[in-house]
Amino acid sequence: MKIRKAVFPVAGLGTRVLPATKAMPKEMLTIVDRPLIQYVVDEAREAGIEHFIFVTGRNKGVIEDHFDRMFELDESLKSRNKAKEIAELARFQPDAGETSFTRQQAPLGLGHAVWCARELVGNEPFAVVLPDELVLNSPGCLKQMIDIANELGDKSNLVAVEEVPTELTHQYGICGVGERHASRANAFTIDGMVEKPPQGTSPSNLSITGRYILQPEIFKILETQERGAGGEIQLTDGMIKLAKSQKFYGVEFEGERHDCGSKPGFLRANIAYAMQRDDLRDGLRAEMLRYLEK
Ligand code: G1P
Repeated sequence: MKIRKAVFPVAGLGTRVLPATKAMPKEMLTIVDRPLIQYVVDEAREAGIEHFIFVTGRNKGVIEDHFDRMFELDESLKSRNKAKEIAELARFQPDAGETSFTRQQAPLGLGHAVWCARELVGNEPFAVVLPDELVLNSPGCLKQMIDIANELGDKSNLVAVEEVPTELTHQYGICGVGERHASRANAFTIDGMVEKPPQGTSPSNLSITGRYILQPEIFKILETQERGAGGEIQLTDGMIKLAKSQKFYGVEFEGERHDCGSKPGFLRANIAYAMQRDDLRDGLRAEMLRYLEK
């Protein structure tokens, strides 16, 4: 069954990047010249996603504005013959009806945020994309996963994973590695998951990255999911229950992961993404050299 819908949980407070996120959603922080949320929506579109579901919270209205037409801006650019800017805005503009917004009314965790999208997703497999993690690669991380999901067939769940140093495993969901997939060396059946294991107890170094493909049966589980690590309703705990009746695969994706929810990660992502751009690479390199020589 085609994966048509992606859920973007965007209700988080962004406490790791205060004060930037005091009055502005963290998903609107810019990497080079685009908000974070734009990168993940583009990644989802590249992967064939047709409907973009945002689980928002208070003070997140500007995300909805970002994906709307700006009539005054369009008219003003037209009257000044700014063809390049008009084309750039049009490229990112979802069509009418392609986006939906719903609110997570209390900060109860990622599992609860995903559950808030149940009516909008309905009874079909869907993707979950966490906007503060960017993966720099072409094809993008979600496209790599959906290609594998299509090969695996129905009723499979997939989680993107990446190796992290042992001293960081307690910050992530962690997967145990089962059998390798016969033809896809970077995919394996998941043998156990745990959310933020205490240091020294992690079953492996493979951390869950913010990309998932899930079957709709997860919603029934999340409905009654109790609070787990950090006192929150955890998506990982819901997946552990679903793994009793359905298959879960880990996908070691190709690409560079950037944790833009932390200040060093955000700064690094800005440099990495700018260095990919033909229009910025040389200028940035010259500025950095001039700065370092000071
Ligand atoms: C969430 C997930 C965790 C995953 C992480 C990736 O945690 O619960 O399993 O490894 O995203 O960024 P959070 O970062 O929201 O605490």
